[in-house]
Amino acid sequence: MCGIVGYVGKKQATPIILDALKRLEYRGYDSAGLAVLANGGIEVHKTEGKISDLEATLPDIKGLYGIGHTRWATQGAPNTINAHPHVSGNIAVVHNGIIENYQELYDELKGDGYEFVSETDTEVLAHLAHKYYKGNLVAAVIEGLKRVKGTYAAAFLCGDLNQVVAARKDSPLVAGIGNGENFIASDVTAFLKYTRNVVYMHDFELVSLSSKKIEFFDFDGNPIEESIESIEWNIEAAEKSGYPHFMLKEIHEQATSVHDTMLGRISELTGDVVLGEVKLSKEEIRKLERVVIIACGTSYNAGLLGKYLFEGLAGIHTDVDISSEFRYSNPVLGDSTLVISISQSGETADTIAATKEAKTYGCRTLAVTNVVGTTLSREVENIVYTRAGPEIGVAATKTFTSQLITLYLLAVHFARIRKKMDVDMSKRLLVSLKQLPGMIQQILNNRESIRKQAVRFSTARDYFFLGRSLNYPIALEGALKLKEISYIHAEGYAAGELKHGPLALISKDTPVVALATRASTYDKMLNNIKEVKARGAPVLAIAGMDDTEIGKYVDAVIRVPVTVELLYPVLSSVVVQLLAYYTADALGCPIDKPRNLAKSVTVE
Ligand code: G6P
Repeated sequence: MCGIVGYVGKKQATPIILDALKRLEYRGYDSAGLAVLANGGIEVHKTEGKISDLEATLPDIKGLYGIGHTRWATQGAPNTINAHPHVSGNIAVVHNGIIENYQELYDELKGDGYEFVSETDTEVLAHLAHKYYKGNLVAAVIEGLKRVKGTYAAAFLCGDLNQVVAARKDSPLVAGIGNGENFIASDVTAFLKYTRNVVYMHDFELVSLSSKKIEFFDFDGNPIEESIESIEWNIEAAEKSGYPHFMLKEIHEQATSVHDTMLGRISELTGDVVLGEVKLSKEEIRKLERVVIIACGTSYNAGLLGKYLFEGLAGIHTDVDISSEFRYSNPVLGDSTLVISISQSGETADTIAATKEAKTYGCRTLAVTNVVGTTLSREVENIVYTRAGPEIGVAATKTFTSQLITLYLLAVHFARIRKKMDVDMSKRLLVSLKQLPGMIQQILNNRESIRKQAVRFSTARDYFFLGRSLNYPIALEGALKLKEISYIHAEGYAAGELKHGPLALISKDTPVVALATRASTYDKMLNNIKEVKARGAPVLAIAGMDDTEIGKYVDAVIRVPVTVELLYPVLSSVVVQLLAYYTADALGCPIDKPRNLAKSVTVE
């Protein structure tokens, strides 16, 4: 996730672009830059760091047309060279998204004689626009973008023209219509100060801005009529896209973030996972005898699912350890062990220390993280980025589901190389993975029924989440989410273990969330549900839409779309997040900043 802006008008562009970028800083903040039409050409300035760092280094640029960018790196380290805009000849571009067929375009453009200076995928957009530019920027951008697979909201500025051109596919882009000035941005907050009249652009639409007019086109170059909406929100609400909390916004972003995690990493043709970031050779992957996953909090819960996947799919013995325990556990490790460190922030002190410790045993290392260029990424040989975009709410949501998706991808990758999974099975699984974003959207559309259940049980003092097998980590995560933000005591339990102690606590006052999607352990789960029902507990089941039986045994059912057994944990995760959110909301808790907790814990 990054933020892009564009301005054309009668005022000086630079201060307006800087102000707009500051509003978008929540979308990314590792580097920033801008390009302004000045002195008969384009003047580009960029830097590593925050918008304030860019501002501090800028000369006084006089110009009325410009584009700007605040970056959240996904390809290429967060440094000045990789910061946007990227330039080809007299064309500059800023981009939010991921170019899936980057390598193919890179090879072609290299062959055409274009020089690449950065490690970013975005640079191909600049060269493509330059390659096709013959005096008409709209035509050049359309021709270039038609060659691109992936996601983008991109804005272009050409040294010859008093014009900004922008287009989108699967990344947000809004145009703002002012009086003698026009804007584009990733989000309305960027220009809400200047105009409230906006056009929300759709995929494969392009906008051309000049100070006098704003025109919209489809990708065949035909003009299109757009409806202008008037924004009623204030800036704070707009930053959250109208959601009352960042957490709810981030829960809703999961249809997109899960898609982004998979983007360009699945080859449906061959049934393979494409993870160029994994530098381990096929031979090394075949020789792995053990995986050890280390992580904290929500990332640890993702790791527990990873154990099922690496063992069940790739046949690699896998252990999962809490980072702070691992360090002092005298682990038995060697060069045939792969240590996978999972950390959304990449800055968790316990996980960094545990990773350093693991390295002293000579094992191989891999990090699954959401932030490029962090301390953790400097400690490991292999990094797979989850690409969920910045997460502001302290309670992890979209980064968790993106971690799960990354673990599925890694497990399939290893399973294929180790010949533990035939091509038909991997194709089936990968096709099902690709259906998850749509299914997540269906759950989100059903949020009102989840809210009702959350409100119904919000006065409980204790809650249980039960699951078996693949659902067990999600039971833990559901309980953790509820504890974190609603302050209700909650326990996640392996359903079969309940009778060995906690059953003594079950009563009519302890709601039980039963993760009961179809699985080989389904019948046993039904027995566990009967056990708690017999003790008077109200039971709320999470089950598939095809389950006609479960309703007989429980007080309420929250339905999820039907998928393969292996993938239900992703769908159930969204349900438990919404349950926790609406419970905390009913109780009036400070959801985005729960007491005593921090987003990134950099002390041991
Ligand atoms: C903190 C956060 C948790 C998070 C944990 C691990 O405790 O409050 O939400 O799961 O750190 O963070 P990491 O960035 O390593 O995934």
